[in-house]
Amino acid sequence: MTAVDLGLPRVPGTRGQTGVPRPEHPGLLDSFGRVATDLRVSLTDRCNLRCTYCMPAEGLDWLPGEQVLTDDELVRLMRIAVEQLGITDIRLTGGEPLLRAGLEDIVGRVTALRPRPRVSMTTNGIGLAKRAAGLAAAGLDRINVSLDTIDRARFAELTRRDRLPHVLAGLAAARDAGLSPVKVNAVLMRGLNEDEAAPLLRFCLDEGYHLRFIEQMPLDAQHGWNRADMITAAEILEKLGAAFTLSPFPAARGGAPAERWLVDGGPGDVGVIASVTRPFCAACERTRLTADGAVRSCLFSNDETDLRTHLRAGARDEEVADAWRATMWGKLAGHEINEAGFAQPIRPMSAIGG
Ligand code: 5AD
Ligand code: SF4
Repeated sequence: MTAVDLGLPRVPGTRGQTGVPRPEHPGLLDSFGRVATDLRVSLTDRCNLRCTYCMPAEGLDWLPGEQVLTDDELVRLMRIAVEQLGITDIRLTGGEPLLRAGLEDIVGRVTALRPRPRVSMTTNGIGLAKRAAGLAAAGLDRINVSLDTIDRARFAELTRRDRLPHVLAGLAAARDAGLSPVKVNAVLMRGLNEDEAAPLLRFCLDEGYHLRFIEQMPLDAQHGWNRADMITAAEILEKLGAAFTLSPFPAARGGAPAERWLVDGGPGDVGVIASVTRPFCAACERTRLTADGAVRSCLFSNDETDLRTHLRAGARDEEVADAWRATMWGKLAGHEINEAGFAQPIRPMSAIGG
């Protein structure tokens, strides 16, 4: 019987969701036996697009500047993650990470850490055309660009900005800079761009980008997500199957969220991330840091740990690492989107990082 069953207060971080006390372990272990090695860092909650499924036309109340981690604070947390907590992969996200001043410098400092983490970035691609080469020179390994349509008028409708040519130029520049494999993330939405599954894949195959479709999750600031409007992985595969021959990808999936398929016998492939209909939480290897210095064990966490206050109060590296470990020990088994009574997290996707 666990402390929770007995009605005793749970000491945060010493007993995970299973009630088991945390064993000595240097890494980001949770009580279900998963170990997080992949860190997602939101560099800013701001964005220069206004994707209708993400935020309202007027934007959101951005974090006040003094609450956002400084470059030194950010790099320190990433150093602790790499040196003490076993993080091997870092993905820089936003909002839009290209809006973070000093991004190239941050990339250079993170890729100088040892053991050197693999460093990638998820971006909307605006401004990337001019910066891809510099980011690659700073050490960035890979890039994911979000692109839900290749139709200019529709792009302007979906993102409320007429910037498709900038994104396409950014993608090409990333490829030319060797930020490969260049991945494209697409979200299909009913009645909006659901007819673009095959055209997006054709475009990516022609250009040498790796396309991954992501099922839409309830993470929008407007709380407008609706299950019936979500295009499921099964529907995506059906739409693709009408235009291409898909066969299972030979390599093992591991902890990767995308299920991959070879297209027309290869070498091109396509991935589908069935976050809602086929959750991959049991194999999750992620931990997250928000731009204001909160550690979250999951996109859907309802609690988070404010490391910024620890940092600014003069905490030692070991204390910060322990607070991070304790947060991860409390990670839930999975998101509960498919359970009755599911409540969306208070922070929207743009303030957590994708
Ligand atoms: N569900 C799934 N993906 C989303 N993204 C943004 N909001 C959602 C959502 N609610 C995607 C973006 C980007 C990445 C960061 O996550 O399109 O590719
Ligand atoms: Fe910006 Fe990404 Fe949200 Fe679009 S989905 S508004 S690109 S943060």
